[in-house]
Amino acid sequence: MSVPTPETVDTYFEQALLPEDPHLDAARARSQQMGLVPHAVSPLQGAFLQILLKSVQAKRILEIGTLGGYAAIWMAKALPPGGQLITLEIVPAVRAVALQNIEEAGLSDVIDVRLGPAIDSLDGLIASHEAPFDFIFIDADKSNNPAYWSRALKLSRTGTVIVIDNVVREGRTADETNANEHLIGVRQVLQDVRNTAGVTATALQTVGSKGWDGFAMAVIDDHATALASLNL
Ligand code: DHB
Ligand code: MG
Repeated sequence: MSVPTPETVDTYFEQALLPEDPHLDAARARSQQMGLVPHAVSPLQGAFLQILLKSVQAKRILEIGTLGGYAAIWMAKALPPGGQLITLEIVPAVRAVALQNIEEAGLSDVIDVRLGPAIDSLDGLIASHEAPFDFIFIDADKSNNPAYWSRALKLSRTGTVIVIDNVVREGRTADETNANEHLIGVRQVLQDVRNTAGVTATALQTVGSKGWDGFAMAVIDDHATALASLNL
């Protein structure tokens, strides 16, 4: 092997630990062929999401940001029979790719891909008194992260786990002189998480096939306290 890099180590771990999954490989390949941005979670990150989901025995998952449905397929495969995943996508042509990937994976009855701006879809779920989700993955346009956090809280219960993707951005998040709107959204949501009472939160940096990035994660310890602390 040549000099190891985070990318080659990811390949090593994938080969060492992950089972073959033609559905996931096909979804990744089609997403690339159809010209989607290469922002799907890595295979190892998909398995990480599965471990979190199984740890909390998630039956109801909400994903904000579908893209090609790659993470949704990973997550849906961690659901027990009767489990459900709702995922939100704004671009019709992108949703169409996701639907094909999900269909090919045999998960059309499990994954519901809602079309539209995620804020509108979330407000619709809240207005229709959707039952709380066990697990929420926030992975859409980063400038709206604060809007997604407040709405995710409303769609949670005590015990819900919320994961926010891409909070490191090659370290740029911590460079306060960089006023990129996506970074501002990431910094603001971290501050909002910090200002939310009744939650336990952390952030973990990652390296690998997606470069240097990371996840913020929170568990709702007391849902009423969390809502009240943000006047929600
Ligand atoms: C970007 C978005 C993502 O969700 C991701 O996982 C990686 C990169 C981006 O917008 O650059
Ligand atoms: Mg992401």
